[in-house]
Amino acid sequence: MIKRNLGNSDLNASIIGLGCMGMSEWYGPTNDEESITTLHTALNNGLNFFDTADVYGNGHNEILVGKALKERRSEAIIATKFGFLPNEAGISGRPEYAKSACNASLQRLGIDCIDLYYLHRVDPNVPVEESVGAMADLVKEGKVKYIGLSEASAESLKRACKIHPITALQTEYSIWVRDIENKILQTCRELNIAIVPYSPLGRGFLTGKVKDTKIFDDNDFRKKVPLFEEENFKANLKVVEELEQIAGEKGCKASQLALAWLIEQGEDIFPIPGTKREKYLVENIHSIEIKLTTEEISRINSLAKKIKGERKSQSGMKLVNG
Ligand SMILES: NC(=O)c1ccc[n+]([C@@H]2O[C@H](COP(=O)([O-])OP(=O)(O)OC[C@H]3O[C@@H](n4cnc5c(N)ncnc54)[C@H](OP(=O)(O)O)[C@@H]3O)[C@@H](O)[C@H]2O)c1
Repeated sequence: MIKRNLGNSDLNASIIGLGCMGMSEWYGPTNDEESITTLHTALNNGLNFFDTADVYGNGHNEILVGKALKERRSEAIIATKFGFLPNEAGISGRPEYAKSACNASLQRLGIDCIDLYYLHRVDPNVPVEESVGAMADLVKEGKVKYIGLSEASAESLKRACKIHPITALQTEYSIWVRDIENKILQTCRELNIAIVPYSPLGRGFLTGKVKDTKIFDDNDFRKKVPLFEEENFKANLKVVEELEQIAGEKGCKASQLALAWLIEQGEDIFPIPGTKREKYLVENIHSIEIKLTTEEISRINSLAKKIKGERKSQSGMKLVNG
């Protein structure tokens, strides 16, 4: 496994992390025992960068991650987030909420200090300086090592950095979601902020395993995502088929191509593919061995232009790049 320091920090993170959200909810049935095995296999393969949030499974995910990594705490970099209120009650970036949320996360994770603490969404009703100021206090108190933002705009990142260094921006970034390439990516580079792409496999779509949205459970999050709506889905499926074609020519999986493409974007990119399954985890780790030619990258880039549909519902879109 290749490891690099995350942004301005001394956190030496594997360039492929593990997104733990689906171990609690969003993508169909879950199984704690299987998830714990997957978390251990990750560490055994040199993957040390784990992503959770207080809101995933209403606390279940942090408890699960904390339990799995308890005996091997010193080997793991644990990133968690606050800002989404429980039971879909909106968001909060208020200073007092940051402090109580952090205490609750520490307790659920069973640790003394969070390695990387993100604000999950910039709260439009609270100046980002205030949210980040409270997070900086948490650093001073020794409860948090480094601070990150999720789905923040270039402007918010610049304002936040004036209060405290920002180590990482977590944002959706993949072959089919490219918003950050406009301005945010460059701002991160100017400010030495690492990019942590979430949903790097297009919520499973770019793996080629999702050929029909009827496979989704009623409470599967993807049912609400425009990219997966019938007409868009049909068009997008053609793109995945072409991706599978390129993967076939290279002798790898489409999922590995999607991750290799992200890794090619720069040494400051640390994708966190999500899976509860050991098999997928191992496949994803092996994507670091795949090298893409300039021609393959431009083929993939031209495919991306054919993608149809927004990446979130209307209400979800209002909170991104904020
Ligand atoms: N900051 C934010 O707002 C935000 C938002 C969303 C996610 N995240 C974080 O980012 C992480 C990753 O994103 P994500 O989970 O939404 O999407 P993703 O990584 O793009 O895709 C996850 C889906 O892909 C499937 N999968 C993974 N590896 C596979 C493989 N090799 N072959 C076939 N299928 C594979 C998983 O299946 P199984 O479920 O069957 O394992 C799951 O359904 C999350 O776990 C979470 O920690 C953050």
